[in-house]
Order: sequence, then structure tokens, then C-alpha cells
Amino acid sequence: ISHFSGTKLFQGKKILITSGPTQEAIDPVRFISNHSSGKMGAALANSFADQGADVLVILGHGAVKPQGSNIQIIEVKSALEMYEVVKEHHHKMDICVFAAAVADYAPKNVAKEKIKKAEEGMTIALVKNIDIAGTLGQEKKPHQIHVGFALETENEAFHAKEKLMKKNFDLIVLNSMKEAGAGFQLDTNKVTLFSKNGNELTSEILPKAQIAQLILQEIKKLPVEI
Ligand code: CTP
Ligand code: CA
Repeated sequence: ISHFSGTKLFQGKKILITSGPTQEAIDPVRFISNHSSGKMGAALANSFADQGADVLVILGHGAVKPQGSNIQIIEVKSALEMYEVVKEHHHKMDICVFAAAVADYAPKNVAKEKIKKAEEGMTIALVKNIDIAGTLGQEKKPHQIHVGFALETENEAFHAKEKLMKKNFDLIVLNSMKEAGAGFQLDTNKVTLFSKNGNELTSEILPKAQIAQLILQEIKKLPVEI
């Protein structure tokens, strides 16, 4: 509409980002979760906002909150809650980035009262959580871009590319586990980006803000008109 929008990469685009861990309740005082800090998701939200986008972050409990303007945050706890919120907003989005560390399983039953300690050990029955990115990947329209994350400990590239296809991602960000300076909780990261059109790019160990910028540049290069 205006030719004063400058050179911002994602001016006016609608971006959804899932970020942080999910929490799966066992009883009123306990849950199953993981070490995700939400730092990478927050860095991505800030980068997109800097580039003129309207950003909606679906944020797991306790995760780092992005600070920029043009960023709306909806806090959730469980994978199911995260799915329901993402599903509600998905159709309006130009780009969805699935950066959350979604728990793969949740307790089959959530006890209403605090579970008392038994004499013996105990077993918690778990059921598989819905695959948020996988499920919404099947509803992705040709003008939408989906970006996923992967964290692998063996055959990293193979598993990452398999997830790229299986979940209908346009781009997947493989987190390196084997490098000092990369991973959970840290402010730096090292990643390899695989895009659907076969591009592959490995970063140095960089601050997460710079990793985020790299991811935005690769998204911009994708052959999708958003
Ligand atoms: N993801 C998701 N919903 C889930 C599980 C994963 O949206 N229930 C998303 C993550 O946010 C990430 C991508 O899918 O973008 C890959 O997550 P990952 O845990 O590596 O994949 P899984 O399919 O769960 O496979 P596994 O844990 O067995 O490696
Ligand atoms: Ca998983």
C-alpha cells in the first residue's frame, strides 16, 4: 500500500511461533516437561517483529518472553492446549514456526488430588500427544510457510530431512547437540538449515539473535509467495 515500508523483510506478514516447553499434568502439583527455555523462539519473534511482521507467540509455561512491539503472546501449558490455540489461528498466518519442545506423551489420567506416596514404586501410564506441526502441516495452503525444528543425537541430517518431508515443512532447523555452545538454556546455538528445495546451510556458533536472522534470511529465499 505504501512505498515507505522500507526494506523490512516481512512487513505486515502474520507469523505464528510456538515456543518453550509443554507441561503435562500428573496431578495438581506435578507435571512432565523438558529443558526448553524458549530462547530460540523469543529470538525468532523479536527478529520477525524487527522486520515489520505481526507476531503471535504460543508460549509454553515459564518460557522466555519475547520483548518487541508487534508481538502478542498467548500462554499455554499442555500440548493439547497449544494445539487448540495454534489451530484457531493457523488459517490467518503467512508463516508458522514450530519452535516449541512439545512433550511427546502425557499422563493418561490426571489425578484430581495429589497422589500420595505408595509403599512400592509406581508407574504412570502415558498416551501420545497430538503432533501439532504434523497435523497442521496437512492443512497448509500453498501460500503458507511452515518451519520446524529438530534435535537429534544420531543420524542427525537423515532424521531432520525425514521430518521435513513427513511434517510438510518448507524449512527445518537442526539443532546441534554435539557442540559446546549449542543447545538448551544457552544464549548461543549452532544449526543446520535444510529447505524443501534442497538448500543446506550450516552456521557457526552464534548468539541466538543471529541464528534467528539467518533463519529469516533462509525463509525469505524459499520459493513460496506469501
Ligand atoms: N512437534 C509438534 N508437536 C509434537 C511434537 C513435535 O509440533 N507433538 C514439532 C516440534 O515443535 C518441531 C518438530 O515437530 O518443530 C520436530 O519435533 P521433534 O520432537 O524433533 O519430532 P518428533 O516427531 O516428536 O520425533 P522424535 O521426538 O521421536 O524425534
Ligand atoms: Ca519429540
